[in-house]
Amino acid sequence: MKLDLPTMKWRALTLLAFVYFQVTLAEEPRLVITPAQPEYTAAVGNPLAFTCKAEVPDPTLITDLKWISPEGLEIGVGDSDGGLIYERIFTEDATEDDGDNGDTPRRQLFFSSVQESDSGNYTCRATYTSSQTLSASVKLSTRVPIKWIDVPAEQHATLGEEYKVRCIVNANPAPQVRWLKDGVAISKKTFESQYLPQSDGILIRNVSREDAGIFTCRASVELTGDLSEKKITLKIIVPPKFKNVIEDIEAIEDMSARLDCEAEGEPTPTYEFIDANGEPIIGRPGFVINPNTGILVIEEVKRENAGEYKCRASNDGGTIEAVSRLRVITKPTIVSFINATGVQNKDITIECIARGDPLPEIVFLKEGSDNTYKIGVNTLDPRVSVEASIGGSGIGGEPDSAVARLSISGATRSDDGLYKCYAENSGGIAERMGHITVEFRPNFDDTPMKEMWTWSQRPVNLTCRASSIPNATINWWNSRYNALIDENDPRYRIYNKDGESTLLVTPEDDSFYGEYRCLAENKHGKAEHLITLKQAHVPQPPTQATFQTVTATTITFKIFGPQNTGGRELTSYAVQYRKQNEEWTDENPSKEWPIESPYILENLEPQTAYVFRFFARNPVGFSTYGAQTQYMMPKRAAPEKPKILATPTGGIVHSAYSQKYDLAWRIMPDNGLPIDNFQIVYFPARNSTVGSYWTEAGPSIRKEVGPGVVSFEIKNLKPDTFYKVEIRAHNAIGFSEPTDIIVKTAKDPSRKTTKSSAISTTSATTVGTIGSIEATEQQSMDYLSGSNIVALAVVLAVLIISIIVDTACCLTKRVGAIAWIYTRTCGKSNHEKISEENNGTDKSPLQNELEERETAPMINGNNEKKAPVSNSVESLPDMKKSASKTSVAKDSIV
Ligand SMILES: *[C@@H]1O[C@H](CO)[C@@H](O)[C@H](O)[C@H]1NC(C)=O
Ligand SMILES: *[C@@H]1O[C@H](CO)[C@@H](O)[C@H](O)[C@H]1NC(C)=O
Ligand SMILES: *[C@@H]1O[C@H](CO)[C@@H](O)[C@H](O)[C@H]1NC(C)=O
Ligand SMILES: *[C@@H]1O[C@H](CO)[C@@H](O)[C@H](O)[C@H]1NC(C)=O
Ligand SMILES: *[C@@H]1O[C@H](CO)[C@@H](O)[C@H](O)[C@H]1NC(C)=O
Ligand SMILES: *[C@@H]1O[C@H](CO)[C@@H](O)[C@H](O)[C@H]1NC(C)=O
Repeated sequence: MKLDLPTMKWRALTLLAFVYFQVTLAEEPRLVITPAQPEYTAAVGNPLAFTCKAEVPDPTLITDLKWISPEGLEIGVGDSDGGLIYERIFTEDATEDDGDNGDTPRRQLFFSSVQESDSGNYTCRATYTSSQTLSASVKLSTRVPIKWIDVPAEQHATLGEEYKVRCIVNANPAPQVRWLKDGVAISKKTFESQYLPQSDGILIRNVSREDAGIFTCRASVELTGDLSEKKITLKIIVPPKFKNVIEDIEAIEDMSARLDCEAEGEPTPTYEFIDANGEPIIGRPGFVINPNTGILVIEEVKRENAGEYKCRASNDGGTIEAVSRLRVITKPTIVSFINATGVQNKDITIECIARGDPLPEIVFLKEGSDNTYKIGVNTLDPRVSVEASIGGSGIGGEPDSAVARLSISGATRSDDGLYKCYAENSGGIAERMGHITVEFRPNFDDTPMKEMWTWSQRPVNLTCRASSIPNATINWWNSRYNALIDENDPRYRIYNKDGESTLLVTPEDDSFYGEYRCLAENKHGKAEHLITLKQAHVPQPPTQATFQTVTATTITFKIFGPQNTGGRELTSYAVQYRKQNEEWTDENPSKEWPIESPYILENLEPQTAYVFRFFARNPVGFSTYGAQTQYMMPKRAAPEKPKILATPTGGIVHSAYSQKYDLAWRIMPDNGLPIDNFQIVYFPARNSTVGSYWTEAGPSIRKEVGPGVVSFEIKNLKPDTFYKVEIRAHNAIGFSEPTDIIVKTAKDPSRKTTKSSAISTTSATTVGTIGSIEATEQQSMDYLSGSNIVALAVVLAVLIISIIVDTACCLTKRVGAIAWIYTRTCGKSNHEKISEENNGTDKSPLQNELEERETAPMINGNNEKKAPVSNSVESLPDMKKSASKTSVAKDSIV
C-alpha cells in the first residue's frame, strides 16, 4: 500500500488546528464533530457514526442540538419517530456526564450502512444562550471498494468469431483496469491490435486458437490504493459440424444399419438421437449409440424401424441437427412357383410369386439355355412372353408381392424342362426351380431301326422306342397276319423297359420274315412304326481288285466291294492265289484282311506269274470267288530306299548332341533279294548360296552296317555343323536310291566357357575344318596366327583329298599308291579286303553286284522287256524307273 501523502498532510494540519483551538480558543463556545475532520471519506456499506459535541463554558445553555442533512433537513432520531425521512440514517442524543465539566451535550449521527448517495455536507447546529447559533459541518465522501461484478472465471470463445472477455468491475472512485494474457501485460507492443480493452472486458476481434489461455483482469484505484485482480481462463470453442453429409440410408432387413452423425468441434460434441416420434433413442435395445463417434447402429433392422431419425450434436459452441430417413429393404423370397403341365401345341403358363421391399423384379431362366425371359415378349422366341403384376398386401395394405407369369403359346417338346424363377431387389436375390412338363403323343423319332437282318433261325431283337409324355403303352403287331403278338406266344418274347420295347423273334421259317408294327399309345394319341425283318445272305464277291503297289515279292491291292453285301456289313476281304502253271488246290482263301486294313500280299516269287481271285465276307459267311486276275511279278531289283526316321524342322534335323547323331531308318521291301547291308555316307555340308544345294564342305565318311540293322550312331562329329547324311540299302543286285537328310549338330556346351577368346580371333565364316583344328589342337592354336591356320587347313585338305582320290582309284581301278602298297604287302584281292574291313561278314561276293551293274544297268527296262506277257496283266508293270514306283492297274478283274 502506498501512503497517501495529501491525506497525511491534511491530517497533520487538522491536528495542529485542533491543538490551536484547544489552547487559544478554549473558552469560545463551539461545536466539535468527531472524527474531527472537515471532510471524511467512508467506505460504502460500512456503518458510520459522527458525534457532535458542544464545547461551551456552560453546557446547560445549549439547546436544540441537531444534525442537518445535505438537503438541509433535520435528521431525526432513529428509534422514536416514525415520520423520519431516513431510517438508515438517524441521530441519537449521546449526552453524558463528563465528570468535571458536568454534562456535555452531544448528538450522534448514525449511518447503519453508508451508501454512495449519502455523500455531502452534514451540519451539526445548536443554539447557545438562546441567541447564539453554533454550527459545525463535516463533508462526507463515499468510497466504493473494488467489486467484481461480472467476471466468469472460465469463458468460452468461439473460433473465428468476435468475443469479449468479460470483466466488469466496480469501484468509486472509478478503477483503472489493466489486462494480462498468460502473465504478460497486454499493450500495443505485446499483442498489437489483437485485443481491444473496453470498459466491460477485452474484445477479441477474430478468435483464434492462440487466444486460449489465462487472462488477468487487474483493477486498481489510484486514490484509495485499492488493487484487485481476477484470473479468467479462456477456452476456445469450435462449434460442432457434421463430418459428412447426413444422407438417407437403406438397410436390408435383418442386417445392421448405421447412421453416422460424427461431428467435429471443441470441446468434443455430445450426441443425441431422436426417433420419428421425438423420443430419444438412448438405451433402446438393439440400438447402439457410440457417444464418442456419434454413430448409431441398429443391429438388426426390422421393417418397423423404417422412418426418420434425427441426430443432434452439441457442445458449448452450439448444437446442430440433421435428419436421415431409414429405408428398410426386405430381401426377396419366392412365395410360390408351381410346376406346370401342358400339352404340345397348346399354351402353357407358369406363375411365380415373390415378396420383398422394394418389390422384386422377376425373370425366368430355362435350365440349359442362355435365354432370360423378362417382362414382355421375348425377342428371340416370340412364343414366350412374361407379364407381371403386383399382389398381396403387406404392412399398411401396401402390395408386397410381385407376380410374374411366363406364357408359352404353342408349346413344343423343347419347352419341357426346368425353369428358374429369379427374383431380385436391392436387398438380394431369391430363386427357385420349377418344371414345365409338355405332354405329347407318342412318336418314334428316337427309333432308328427300320430293318433288321438275320439268317438261319438266329434270334433277333426288334427294338422300338416311343417318345411320349406321359409314357405310352407299346404293342407289337405282325403285319403279315395283321395280328397282335401275344406276350405269351412262345415264338416271341417282348421286353419293355423305360419306354423302349424289344421284340425277340426267332425265325423258325421264312414266314417270320416280313413287317412288324410297333404301336404306341398314350392319352394324347397314338403312333406306329414299321420294322422289316429281312433274311441276310452271304455277300457277293468284290467287284474289282487292282494292283496298287508292286515290288518283286509283294503286291498291295486295292479292293472294291460288292454292291450287295447280303444284308450285313462286310467284315473282311480274302484272296486265293496260285502260280499260273499250277492248279487250284485249296478251297479256302490263302490270305484274309479285315476291312480297311492294307491289303498286302507278301513272299511272292519274282518273275513269276500268279493268278488271284478275291472273296468278300460278312457275318453270314464268305462270298463265292470273283473273276480271276493274273500278274507277272517283276524281276528282282535293288532294294527300295530306306526311310529315315527323323523329324526335320525347316529341312534340317537337329541333333541333340554336339558330336554325334543317332540315325534310324525303316527297312523297305528288298525287291526280291535279301538286303545284305546298308551304306551310310556323311560329310560336312555347306548351304550353297546359289540354289538350295548342300555341297561338300569336308571329307565324306562311309560306313556300312549289316542287314536287319535299323540304326547307327554317327560319331565324332563337329559341333554346330551341318552334315549331309545319306543311306542306301544294298542287296545282291545293287544299291537302292539314297535317302538323305541334313543334320545339324548341337553347339558345344563346353566351348563357350573355356575358350571364348579363341572363337573371337577366328572369323565367323571359317567352316568346320578349322573349327576342328581349334578343338583338337587347342595348345598349338595359341601360337598360331589366323593366316597360319588357313595355310594348315589347306595343306590338310589337299592331303585328305589326295588320300580319298587315291582310295577311290584303288577301289575302282586298282591303281594308285594305296593299291600299290596293298598288292605289295598283302597280295590279296581288294574286294575281299574291303568287305573284311567293313563288317567282317564274308558273304555273297560284291563281284556279283559289279557284274550286275555292268550287264544290266537298266534293271527296270530290262524287266519290262523280259516280262512274260500274260492276257490280263499286260500293262501292269508300268514301272518305268524302278520297281518301287507306285502304279495302279487300270483293268479290272470283273
Ligand atoms: C460544505 O461546508 C463547507 C464548509 O463547512 C463549505 O465550504 C462547502 O461549500 C459546503 N458544501 C456544500 C455543498 O454545501
Ligand atoms: C479470422 O481468422 C481466420 C484465420 O486467421 C481467417 O481465416 C478469417 O478470415 C478471419 N475472420 C475474420 C472475420 O477476419
Ligand atoms: C416339380 O418338378 C420337379 C422336377 O420334375 C420335381 O422335382 C418337384 O418335386 C416338382 N414339384 C412339385 C411341387 O410337384
Ligand atoms: C434281346 O434283348 C434282350 C433284352 O434287351 C436281351 O436280353 C437279349 O440278349 C437280346 N437278344 C439278342 C439276340 O440280341
Ligand atoms: C416313363 O419312362 C421313363 C423313361 O423314358 C421312366 O424313367 C419312367 O419311370 C416311366 N414312367 C412310368 C410312370 O412308367
Ligand atoms: C540354304 O540356302 C537357301 C538359298 O540360299 C536358303 O533359302 C535356305 O534357307 C538355306 N538353308 C539354311 C538352313 O540355311
